[in-house]
Amino acid sequence: MKHVAVIGLGYVGLPLASLCAVRGYRVLGFDKKHSVIDSINSGQCHFRDKNAELLFSEAMQSGNFEATSQQELLTDASIYIICVPTPVDSSRNPDLSPLLDALEVVGPHLERGDLVVIESTVFPGTCEDVVAPRLAQLSNLTPGRDFFLSHCPERINPGDAFWHCGNIPRVVGALSDQGARQAALFYADILGGDIFDVRTVRAALRPKFRSNEYGLQVTQVPLGSITMMRSIRDAEAVKAMENTVRDVNIAFVNELAKISDALKLDVVDIINGMATKPFGKGPFYPGVGVGGHCIAVDPEWLKMASRQAGFIPEIIELARATNTSMPTYTVQLLQDLLNERGMPVKGTQVAILGTTYKRDTDDLRESPFYPLRDILKRKGASLRVFDSWNPAENTHSDITSALHGAKAAVIVTDHTELKAALSGVDFAGLGIEVVIDGRNCLDPESFDAESVIYKGIGR
Ligand SMILES: NC(=O)c1ccc[n+]([C@@H]2O[C@H](COP(=O)([O-])OP(=O)(O)OC[C@H]3O[C@@H](n4cnc5c(N)ncnc54)[C@H](O)[C@@H]3O)[C@@H](O)[C@H]2O)c1
Repeated sequence: MKHVAVIGLGYVGLPLASLCAVRGYRVLGFDKKHSVIDSINSGQCHFRDKNAELLFSEAMQSGNFEATSQQELLTDASIYIICVPTPVDSSRNPDLSPLLDALEVVGPHLERGDLVVIESTVFPGTCEDVVAPRLAQLSNLTPGRDFFLSHCPERINPGDAFWHCGNIPRVVGALSDQGARQAALFYADILGGDIFDVRTVRAALRPKFRSNEYGLQVTQVPLGSITMMRSIRDAEAVKAMENTVRDVNIAFVNELAKISDALKLDVVDIINGMATKPFGKGPFYPGVGVGGHCIAVDPEWLKMASRQAGFIPEIIELARATNTSMPTYTVQLLQDLLNERGMPVKGTQVAILGTTYKRDTDDLRESPFYPLRDILKRKGASLRVFDSWNPAENTHSDITSALHGAKAAVIVTDHTELKAALSGVDFAGLGIEVVIDGRNCLDPESFDAESVIYKGIGR
């Protein structure tokens, strides 16, 4: 029977420790607060949460769970999971002191082959720059080689009737591939879900789609699945960014509420109405620009109506400004990378692939292709254009002839057939030195940076 030590037994640590015990691990929970330990060992969950209470009572019945505030008792564990608070200080800067204290508890006990998981929310770089060096000092072992250091951010949503620590999909990252694998296997064991690689997770989920009456398919997120990130920093960033996205979205609906006040609308009814749309809600991805007749247009109407009613919707204005600046940003990326290769934009042959506003449509309205093309023209680039969905703008009859002789390519639209065709293209062989992927549709690892510089938007 494997021994697990959980450090910090609050909203995150107690349910997790309970889950491990229920799944057959021998669990020793450690918390520095004696009142927490006394409560747990007398069979009382020290906070109120239905799912946590049920899981805790199952754990106590299993006989596999004990709690202590004596750190010297942690000797038998081979898996250490840290779930201590990561608050902000009075200046709203991250306060890592509870995490640093927890490392002092774990470090001296570490042995070769152990797995350490940080579940506490941390900013990108914390595990590599703060946790790993301190654990190395305390244990005299090399993190990533002698023991595994992983980050698996907790996403628990206390009070949620459906989602709990036993079924929320997880992401893991580690200092080494082997560490990520070890952590993923452990979480798959307690959560019961499948393991995915972040590079292929979207495609891998496809078999789990369900069909509608026309035979079309809709995605379903598998419960308790584990997705392995490429690095521990990526795993840290997933948590930090997913919560930021939520924060911005909440700010955004706060702005919708203010608009609704100005226009005398009921924002709750409207949000409930919007919530009936089963698609187009997320995930959202960055790109060369937002086009089409809806997303690039409707906010402008709302802005105008709101301004006329006396309320200035700053977040929408900012979001619009950000999205409309993306073609300029994309050209800047191209310019920088051409410069890196000693080439100016002026006079350089640039192939633009895709002209419609999104994939597999011939709709050109508000397509970022137009501002991108105009900026490049103003800067003096020699343009070649190809899109099988919109022959009107084509300067060449196929992808290969558009690319052959060009020095750079900019992908504006990720049509299914364009993407499939590009995966077989020998960019270097055609003389291309820079590829700007405005839709992040190609695999960055398929490019050899020596011959072709590949750059996506934000990757
Ligand atoms: N609460 C949530 O909904 C939630 C959700 C996802 C992630 N998180 C993250 O999980 C982490 C833990 O949050 P929480 O809500 O469980 O906090 P909490 O305050 O409920 O529990 C933390 C426990 O850790 C103990 N502790 C503090 N320092 C310690 C130390 N050095 N050694 C041993 N025990 C120590 C505290 O006494 C407390 O019982 C945080 O990073 C938080 O951001 C929380």
